[in-house]
Amino acid sequence: MKRISLSLLLTCLGLALIVYLGYHNLFSQAEPPYDDDQEGLSGQIVFKFSHVVAENTPKGQAAAKFAELVAQKSKGQIQIVVFPNGSLYSDIEEINALKDGQVQIIAPSTSKLGDLSPKWGVLDLPFAFENYEAMQSGIHGDIGQALLDSLQEDELIGLAHWSNGFKQITTNKGPIKEPADIAGQKLRIMPSEIIREQFHLLGAATVEESFNSTYNLIETGQVDGEENTISNIYSRKFYNVQKHLTISNHGYLGYAVMMDQKAWNQQTESTQQILLEAMEETTDWNDQNASKINEEQLELIKQKSDIQIYELTAAEKQQWAEKMAPLYEQFRETIGAALLEDLDKLQESYEEKP
Ligand code: LMR
Repeated sequence: MKRISLSLLLTCLGLALIVYLGYHNLFSQAEPPYDDDQEGLSGQIVFKFSHVVAENTPKGQAAAKFAELVAQKSKGQIQIVVFPNGSLYSDIEEINALKDGQVQIIAPSTSKLGDLSPKWGVLDLPFAFENYEAMQSGIHGDIGQALLDSLQEDELIGLAHWSNGFKQITTNKGPIKEPADIAGQKLRIMPSEIIREQFHLLGAATVEESFNSTYNLIETGQVDGEENTISNIYSRKFYNVQKHLTISNHGYLGYAVMMDQKAWNQQTESTQQILLEAMEETTDWNDQNASKINEEQLELIKQKSDIQIYELTAAEKQQWAEKMAPLYEQFRETIGAALLEDLDKLQESYEEKP
């Protein structure tokens, strides 16, 4: 009996040795040859960046640029993984996803931030900015900074403003030339009190739904139209389900890039520095790129569709601005006198000289 147990034990030990040697050999062969590009990869930091528009839009391209710059500056140690098209979270869900730590960076349209602070409404005021230059002075100056700072009250860090551009109007009931032309229509809008009031003032009804449901709302006739930038109209192919496009440039559409305070505080100083530097470079780059994309995509809409395009004349724009002017007084208290004074000064300095 003892002899059997001893030989069994020796067989088991032998087998264990063979398995160990085989295993060890297999893994030492699988190990890749040394490559200094891979140095430190094991400690890689990954940030998820979620947004709701397509990759060929100002926000889509800025997010990709930011990811590229962060990878470059951190030598591959920090990776920004971008999830476009609302593939992770819709615009209605993304702030909660950020707060819950499901994603680390988002860039919602500033019109969707009214629940955080009504001050954001200043950027929704009709004809707030005379042109691109005025818009950039506004969002990168005192007005923009005060808004980013206000995010701290919600334990969020405002990293930058990325502009998209000016909003235009698309509809199936047109053409829209005068403010009266929009009365009686139903439009999909972003969830913003000022945008809602703007259209109610013009006699239109509004539906506040997510960006990704807009095409379907138009296609199924639940709304007549919507307002958006050319790049959003182009990338979502609204031109296929809309008959009229009015180039009105009546309002701003742009994004506040943000992180959750807790997630930010967990980063080392050097990671924070890399994120800030990459963000600054991306923001400068986006200022040029966004207007270029909107211009190019207007040409593409003309080539690819039969949508009727009408551009408001200066006199017609003036008529729209006058019609919507009461909103400035109506929202004075909500937005706060300080921000409105800053906007007033900005508007004076960019007023078109006759
Ligand atoms: C919209 O909802 O129409 C836009 O805010 C979408 C976007 O993020 O540009």
